Amino acid sequence: MPSLLDEIEPLRQSALAEMRSAPDPAALERAKGNWIGTHGKFTALMKQLGSLPKEDRPAAGRRINEAKIQLEAALAARRQELELKAALPKDPTDFTLPGRGRSLGKLHPLTQVTDDIVRSFRKIGFVVADGPEVEDEYHCFDALNTPADHPARDTQDTFYLTKPDASQPSTNNHQLLLRTHTSSVQIRVMEKQQPPVRIIVPGRVYRRDNADATHNPTFQQIEGLYVDKGVTVGDLKGTVEFVFRDLLGNDVKIRFRPHYFSYTEPSFEIDFSSPLTRKMGQEWLEIAGCGMVHPQVFENVGYDSEVWSGWAFGFGIERIAMIRYGINDIRLFYENDLRFLKQF
Ligand code: DAH
Repeated sequence: MPSLLDEIEPLRQSALAEMRSAPDPAALERAKGNWIGTHGKFTALMKQLGSLPKEDRPAAGRRINEAKIQLEAALAARRQELELKAALPKDPTDFTLPGRGRSLGKLHPLTQVTDDIVRSFRKIGFVVADGPEVEDEYHCFDALNTPADHPARDTQDTFYLTKPDASQPSTNNHQLLLRTHTSSVQIRVMEKQQPPVRIIVPGRVYRRDNADATHNPTFQQIEGLYVDKGVTVGDLKGTVEFVFRDLLGNDVKIRFRPHYFSYTEPSFEIDFSSPLTRKMGQEWLEIAGCGMVHPQVFENVGYDSEVWSGWAFGFGIERIAMIRYGINDIRLFYENDLRFLKQF
């Protein structure tokens, strides 16, 4: 009768062979059961240890244990191999196929136009200033010499916040609102800084307008303010002309029309004409408001209006972008349809 010791080696060989060649996870589990499961042949061998003569038991026990460790290692190795195999693609890979391209993002057309305008003004010494979009009535209106009964202050036209500004005395002046124009930043800058001042202020503004092709409840403006000694309307005109030509080409023509703003005197509207406006079916297009800073505004910020003079302007960025790119609906800027945005 072959001894137990002699049986170990052939069983070990067969078990290893079956595990290593298991074609799939199910076959591997079966092999495990066949050999080292509760009813496996190797397990049975261990159970027979007790029937060996005492002096043979340690050697046989050691051999069986070694074999069992080997079998468990083989099982784990094959399991990993099979898992890897299962994770591989079923079809052969064509490594010569072109890769999946990622398109590069770009700046929103309004950001591009704003950047260009800022660049033009920087050439002539202007710096960018900023102010809050949640503004108080004082900075948005009163300090700009805009009386309490002015239509722009009507609840029909302006988004007021229900909460008053807690940091301020509770007067009407400090009612909070979404700024209706960037002109409020003129005041904020002059309050903090002595002349000379040369700033531009790009930023978002809000009005209670219903959206249509030329209106949107939020849009962007650029404000400009220049304060120094002896500033004239000629400086204003020259500056506006320089910037628009820099931006839209040398054949741009500018025209000033008398107008009224409470914070400038005299005040003008700026019309502009170019091949682009003609393409849009109009010779002259109104583009901005401007004027010489009203003495009362200087007094409100503590500048001596006998010493200092200046001009200010404000225009809509969308308007410029629409002319520049031939866009006929302002809402396109805010829908963020990639088919539109990718064109710029
Ligand atoms: N704030 C005016 C608006 O929103 C534009 C404007 C007009 C700004 C005249 C100015 C100015 O600085 O002097 O329509």
